[in-house]
Amino acid sequence: MSTVNGKVIVITGASSGIGEASALLLAERGAKLVLGARGTDRLQALTDRIIASGGDAVWVRTDVKQRGDLSQLVKRACDRYGKLDGVGPISPLDELRVEDWEDMIDINLKGVLYGIAVALPIFRKQGFGHFINTASVAAHRIVPNMAVYAGTKIAVRAISEGLRQEAGDKLRVTVISPGFTRTNFAESMTNQEVKAQIVTSMEKFAMPPDAIARAIAFAIEQPADVDVGEIIVRPTAQD
Ligand SMILES: NC(=O)c1ccc[n+]([C@@H]2O[C@H](COP(=O)([O-])OP(=O)(O)OC[C@H]3O[C@@H](n4cnc5c(N)ncnc54)[C@H](OP(=O)(O)O)[C@@H]3O)[C@@H](O)[C@H]2O)c1
Repeated sequence: MSTVNGKVIVITGASSGIGEASALLLAERGAKLVLGARGTDRLQALTDRIIASGGDAVWVRTDVKQRGDLSQLVKRACDRYGKLDGVGPISPLDELRVEDWEDMIDINLKGVLYGIAVALPIFRKQGFGHFINTASVAAHRIVPNMAVYAGTKIAVRAISEGLRQEAGDKLRVTVISPGFTRTNFAESMTNQEVKAQIVTSMEKFAMPPDAIARAIAFAIEQPADVDVGEIIVRPTAQD
């Protein structure tokens, strides 16, 4: 039986893409899931699907920009904590899409911090817990148009590494850095030219989101004294 069995796992960004694929795989392996996102219809449909296959899941409408929403989400779980998601409206800096920059900072970076703020005291109290934060290969290889997005993802890696060092011998911290993954990610992009390029690359060689879900399950399934620091998963064809 998988060691995921019986674990309580909170997933943000669960309504789509990597979050949705992770929810389905972890439910199949026996996790009890608390699912958060803003799209309540999709959360309800996913929850129905998990329950119909014999799994265990509830959802809570969650905007990760709102610290109180994350408190409510974690309150429903009171046990283990999962992963945080993000958005990627990438564009050249010259276009000064400051609102997009703010969105990426609020969701990708502050959302992760709010998640830590709400889960860390619970993890400390119970004496166990596992943070799984989503970064990106963009945090490893900086390319044009991705400056701010990469900045938020580098920050997620830095904060996760600092958290790991401070976490002590009971809590685990994992960073997942996906390459091109076939999800709705491009929908968050506001520059139509960049969006079209990303969609073309996605159609050409992106990997399915359950590739990332399997990496997340691998990290969770290790024994409590084994902490998987970071997993980078790319499509084989990505340069
Ligand atoms: N796809 C890729 O190629 C790729 C590559 C590297 C890294 N990543 C990272 O992987 C993570 C997941 O992205 P994905 O590819 O699975 O994209 P996706 O299919 O677009 O899913 C994004 C998820 O984030 C949720 N979300 C967006 N804004 C939110 C907010 N304010 N509050 C709560 N939830 C919010 C969305 O749900 P609602 O809209 O319902 O709220 C959705 O469930 C992100 O951190 C992304 O940066 C993706």
